[in-house]
Amino acid sequence: MTQKTYKVIQWATGTVGQAALKYFIENPVIELVGVLVTNPDKVGKDAGDIVGLPKTGVLCTDSEEAILAMEADAVLFAPSMMTPPVDMVCRLLASGKNVISPAGPFLPNKFFPEHAARVEAACKAGGVSFHSCGIHPGFASDILPLTLARLMSRIDCIEVTEIIDKKRNPMIYTEIMGFGADCDELLANPRRGPDTYQHFYSSMQMIAEGLGVEIEKVTTRFEVSKATADIVHDYGMVKKGTCGGQHYEWTAWVQGKPLIVYHFYWQLGTDLDPLWEVGEAKYRVRIHGDPPMECHLMGQEEEDGRQPFYGIPWTGLLGCTVVPDVCEAATGVVTHFDLGVVKPQGLVRR
Ligand SMILES: NC(=O)c1ccc[n+]([C@@H]2O[C@H](COP(=O)([O-])OP(=O)(O)OC[C@H]3O[C@@H](n4cnc5c(N)ncnc54)[C@H](OP(=O)(O)O)[C@@H]3O)[C@@H](O)[C@H]2O)c1
Repeated sequence: MTQKTYKVIQWATGTVGQAALKYFIENPVIELVGVLVTNPDKVGKDAGDIVGLPKTGVLCTDSEEAILAMEADAVLFAPSMMTPPVDMVCRLLASGKNVISPAGPFLPNKFFPEHAARVEAACKAGGVSFHSCGIHPGFASDILPLTLARLMSRIDCIEVTEIIDKKRNPMIYTEIMGFGADCDELLANPRRGPDTYQHFYSSMQMIAEGLGVEIEKVTTRFEVSKATADIVHDYGMVKKGTCGGQHYEWTAWVQGKPLIVYHFYWQLGTDLDPLWEVGEAKYRVRIHGDPPMECHLMGQEEEDGRQPFYGIPWTGLLGCTVVPDVCEAATGVVTHFDLGVVKPQGLVRR
């Protein structure tokens, strides 16, 4: 069978971007044609060198204009969130390239109507489509529980829980996220503010729409746990008595009761009071109802017995595997509902 190929640009080579870049270089249905970087050390380097693969002949550029002028079917747009990405997303779309991006806000989303309208208009101008991708929001929090709902005869409540032990899975943002801060200060100023759930609202809305119900309101809760000993981690140290664990909880209410609850348990090891969750990093979906069900999404055990957290690379891969479907989709913002069952291509290489 001859497979159609797609010309793709990778925009930004952070953690998400590198997972995507590796995929694009290795996948036979993809032809990598451009890489946009901001880091001056990466400018002019071969794309293969960025991810430890053989040379590709594609050199990284920091010229946004050069990327805009390139001929390509799709861009995986994965910059950090420091600058609002909507302007550039719209320019890329209007230049005739399909855009897939984990850099929110996720669309469609009633909290960001102006963004949604601009992206929709840019899609029309370029005759292309836009798709938001990611593990959470974007997969574990929407299409996964909705797919699992096919195994239920009655649903009372869906809980999606992100569990990350940031000691076992070190992340550079540990201090910025408030670990090591005074617990009372953090409770008063959570690093994920009360409105952050709005960025994940498309996922809640997708479940509600799929189940044919309406969300009445979303409530939020935040609690912290104290380090019971000094905790040394890869990016620093958290002193005994300061914040060593955080639990964010966002609840969507339907017909006066919680229907969709997102929990985020981020902990640094186990010297914590309280200790909410133990074990490997994972996304866990629990659907209460008939029959009650539980599903864990996690990496396979490695030689050292640990199961790595793949949440960030999965975010890139979710964008990569959908490239052919988004390129073939109708013009406009396309959601999981529009795409139906995605057909990842070029993954089986014997
Ligand atoms: N939905 C989800 O589940 C989910 C999960 C994870 C991440 N995300 C989103 O995915 C995006 C990428 O995440 P990441 O973990 O890869 O981030 P990251 O590791 O911080 O990398 C982002 C990259 O953006 C580029 N960059 C740095 N400063 C920039 C600036 N001021 N303006 C524009 N670009 C800049 C850099 O690219 P170069 O190194 O190439 O110069 C950097 O490596 C973020 O927007 C994040 O919020 C979504």
